[in-house]
Amino acid sequence: MSQQPEAKAWINYIYKLAEAAPTLDSHIACEKGVGYLEANYPSFFTYPAATQSFGHHHTVCGLAQHTAEVIQIGLQTRAVLNLQHVIPYDEYFLAALYHDAGKVKAYTQLPDGKWVKTQDSRWFHHIHLGVKIFEEMVAHEKLSYPTGAVQHAIMAHHGCREWGSPVSPATPSAQLLHQSDLMSARMSDIVRGVDPLDYKNYKAGEKS
Ligand SMILES: [Fe+2]
Ligand SMILES: [Fe+2]
Repeated sequence: MSQQPEAKAWINYIYKLAEAAPTLDSHIACEKGVGYLEANYPSFFTYPAATQSFGHHHTVCGLAQHTAEVIQIGLQTRAVLNLQHVIPYDEYFLAALYHDAGKVKAYTQLPDGKWVKTQDSRWFHHIHLGVKIFEEMVAHEKLSYPTGAVQHAIMAHHGCREWGSPVSPATPSAQLLHQSDLMSARMSDIVRGVDPLDYKNYKAGEKS
């Protein structure tokens, strides 16, 4: 994909959200999180968020747009519900930033332009792949950061086993991430006229 100006706009937008972190330490952690993806996984900022046309944010830069929405929805909700004391800014920001980062390894584009899932997707799921990329970032950037809460939130972001998460949200930041992810995805569906309960029909090719 070659829409670099649009990708650059999303990178700058997400950097702005990192800059809004309330303390120097959290600001540094958030910025390193964005910088690691920009330097090592530039496709994060150009890939779609879904392989199939009926999936949410199936557009150029859809993964970056969805990620920015999840960060913003969560941070706004955190402020409205006065959750600052139970959800550290950087804990939520990094979990939201990396929640679907595994899709850079789970998706690939064929020469004919079609997007498909990789063997890594079938073997490990984008959730596990995302946790690994987050761990990679923490080690590479030498962040002295308590990573368990972020890892848990990434693991739990689909909400339950039936929807692909091995664990359900057990912390405020994990629940906020799950709800924000769902909000971004389902609003994208309904605006486009896609009924999420009707996915199996789309998969059968009846409406795609
Ligand atoms: Fe996901
Ligand atoms: Fe997501």
